[in-house]
Amino acid sequence: MTRLLLKNGTVIHAHGQFREDILIEGERIFAIGPNLSCSSDTPNLDVSGKLIFPGCIDPHTHMGIPIKGGTSADDFLSGTPSALHGGVTSILDFTVLENGQSLSESLDKRLELASQSVCDVGFHVNVSRFDENLLDEIPRLAEQGFNSFKTFTTYREAGMMLDYHEIELLAQRVARIEGVLMVHAEDDAVIQKRTAPYLAEGQTHPRYHGLSRPAEAEAVAVQKLGEISDRTGCHIYIVHLNTARGLEIASGFERLSIETCPHYLFLTNEAYETIDGAMYVASPPLRTAQDQEALWRGILDGRIHTLGSDHCPFCRRDKAANTPFQDIPNGMGGVETLFPTVLARFLNEDHDLSRLTELCSFNPALIFGVNHRKGALKAGMDADLLVVDPTASRSDWEANLITNLDWNAYTGLPALFPERVMRRGEWVTDDMSPGIMLRAK
Ligand code: URP
Ligand code: ZN
Ligand code: ZN
Repeated sequence: MTRLLLKNGTVIHAHGQFREDILIEGERIFAIGPNLSCSSDTPNLDVSGKLIFPGCIDPHTHMGIPIKGGTSADDFLSGTPSALHGGVTSILDFTVLENGQSLSESLDKRLELASQSVCDVGFHVNVSRFDENLLDEIPRLAEQGFNSFKTFTTYREAGMMLDYHEIELLAQRVARIEGVLMVHAEDDAVIQKRTAPYLAEGQTHPRYHGLSRPAEAEAVAVQKLGEISDRTGCHIYIVHLNTARGLEIASGFERLSIETCPHYLFLTNEAYETIDGAMYVASPPLRTAQDQEALWRGILDGRIHTLGSDHCPFCRRDKAANTPFQDIPNGMGGVETLFPTVLARFLNEDHDLSRLTELCSFNPALIFGVNHRKGALKAGMDADLLVVDPTASRSDWEANLITNLDWNAYTGLPALFPERVMRRGEWVTDDMSPGIMLRAK
């Protein structure tokens, strides 16, 4: 069994930062604390001056999923090395429920695809069709360790939407197993009402993607979901929250957990006016600078609980500039740049780095029930960790990306990629150049 002593790092825990040593044995952390001593034949690595973070858990990725008009550009084979490069050592992806499939069949299919992965992968089970038989599967799935479920208040045309009554019935079942119900919260009726006139007028520009999915759609859905969480006792997790109003409403409910994504933190709806407007089409859409400021406040004051990338990239060929907005595949890439861009921003603005550990590691592990193995650096936990040189932030990182995506929304933004990434006790690579670490375990 391999042993390694990391000496003198500044360890960024969710509860504070300490100068500590970390002794790794096999896949786990054996001990952590100041001035650890161990046998003289244990290899040492001096990480003085370096920050040590727990590996990030990205709770929201879509590797290789079919979405109207295309399949997301990264599958597990390309997407998981890309995740590791950006410091994400675990992803939580989603099942895809096809017509006639049971939940467990949909899960089996995705588990098989995920066997190509080089980081750890978990799954949320999509309940994108209402059927009592599907609800009856929930206790069995929970026994197998799958206790988080996902549904949608929109995407009616894609056949993925549940109405609020159906969501409440689903929430009752998820509450019974003490699970988590993730919800894509955009009210479909609001969207339909706004979209119809644009379609009638023949408006096709990407800006109408944003205009047809107004902030009001999130506000209505979050309010109703909050009420459902109160009535059912179900822990509801709002994915990709993106508006000031949505955040304000969500913060008033005790059983809602809130995720936001890097595209809402770094980009605004002005992107739709650029030549690459179509590339920024994701749902929910990009918002105003005021929304963005509110999200940053929520990030810093704890009202936002997690950061997820909603990694669902599409290449240029899939998002041709003249495609009508309603036919552009929805989604953007982000698993590789999530942590490096947010970390650079935290350091630039001197924010408390422990908050970043909470958002990217500790809270996702706690919410999704993997905190016995992941999300914190302590004895007995998986040795998933990042070594970061705090002086190494740069803007010219784009050429090193591993993702299959042929376009980047964050060009020129300062980013601080980890110098080393350890996943379950093994360095992923000593040299982050693409191509040398693509070994599935
Ligand atoms: O536009 C997005 N976000 N695509 C991925 C699916 C979803 O709704 O999260
Ligand atoms: Zn969504
Ligand atoms: Zn998503």
